[in-house]
Amino acid sequence: MPLNTQSPTGRLPIYIIGAGSIVNDAHLPAYKIAGFNVQGVVDIVYDKAKATADKFNIPGVFTTLEELLAKAAPNAVFDVAVPGLETMAVLKKLPQGSAVLVQKPMGENYEEATEILQLTRHKKLTAAINFQLRYAPYILATKDLIDKGVMGELNDIEINVNVYTPWHLWDFLYSSPRVEILYHSIHYIDLIRNLLGNPRSVYAKTTRHPSMPGLASVRSNIIMDYGDMIRANILTNHCHNYGTPKQQSYIKIEGSKGAIKINFGALIDYPRGAADSFEYILLEGDKVPKWKKMKIEGSWFPHAFIGSMSQLMLAAEGTIDRPDNSVEDCIHTMACVEAAYRSSEEGGVKPCQ
Ligand SMILES: NC(=O)c1ccc[n+]([C@@H]2O[C@H](COP(=O)([O-])OP(=O)(O)OC[C@H]3O[C@@H](n4cnc5c(N)ncnc54)[C@H](O)[C@@H]3O)[C@@H](O)[C@H]2O)c1
Repeated sequence: MPLNTQSPTGRLPIYIIGAGSIVNDAHLPAYKIAGFNVQGVVDIVYDKAKATADKFNIPGVFTTLEELLAKAAPNAVFDVAVPGLETMAVLKKLPQGSAVLVQKPMGENYEEATEILQLTRHKKLTAAINFQLRYAPYILATKDLIDKGVMGELNDIEINVNVYTPWHLWDFLYSSPRVEILYHSIHYIDLIRNLLGNPRSVYAKTTRHPSMPGLASVRSNIIMDYGDMIRANILTNHCHNYGTPKQQSYIKIEGSKGAIKINFGALIDYPRGAADSFEYILLEGDKVPKWKKMKIEGSWFPHAFIGSMSQLMLAAEGTIDRPDNSVEDCIHTMACVEAAYRSSEEGGVKPCQ
């Protein structure tokens, strides 16, 4: 079913839990663009909440989650962006029946994702996960072409990332048993699922790198299996430490009548980034097909974050039954992540001796 891209009224009050980098760099800049009504913020480090409130003119700054919950309006929308290990404790404290957007990943593994799902069901929360690449402006443009039928049937998706990622910026990754797929390729797995549905199976190999021995894995090859006629591949290398000329990151989508190539710049020369580009080609009768460029306003960071919150607010307002990025949907992304790790551990088929 096509995505409902209607804007929510934006009137529901948003309360932010965790005032770290992603909230300051993406959530709040996105909500400012969208005109959403952010009413409160809390962080276990009060000064971080205060600095965030000052920067984004948020009226309520709280010292504890309990204090925030006591003051929050009954129609509050909670935006949880704490480290994954803290997510369950926060969700347990939210009022029964509330609306909540939870930062990705949905737990550290499938077991934790299932616990989050069960808790949200038990507490009747309207709960969504912040898998936001699905709502990046270039992906919305892609979905528009698909929905118009001009792409025909999709038969090929390739996501190829060859960049240098300064993983040392995220300390917690050094103690995590899972890195690349759980924290990065998860976005691409979620996107492919969002475009093609759930795969039949997943093949994967996730690999370490000699220059980053402290990290569990920093490169991945993932095949999402949709049968004999559809190819869906993710290839990532975050260790290309040879300058920017050969860095690349693209999403290529092919259908029976057209193709799209999105060069997305967010990861190039990180954190500086580079410009995105969106090119597409449509087969029209006997005409010689030509690639065209489409100008897209906005990018993954921060604009996609409008989409993940909009879905939650549309559901909380009663405009749609369930967010597109509901926990009920996103559990399947976590199942694919789990399958990818299992495939990588179990290994491939050994050649005959
Ligand atoms: N969607 C994305 O693309 C994306 C990108 C980056 C990070 N993330 C996710 O967002 C989350 C936060 O990441 P970050 O980079 O902002 O980390 P961060 O460390 O910069 O921020 C986390 C903040 O949460 C606060 N905090 C911790 N426990 C808390 C609690 N119980 N109550 C209130 N505040 C608490 C910390 O003091 C800190 O300020 C992580 O789960 C991460 O995986 C998602």
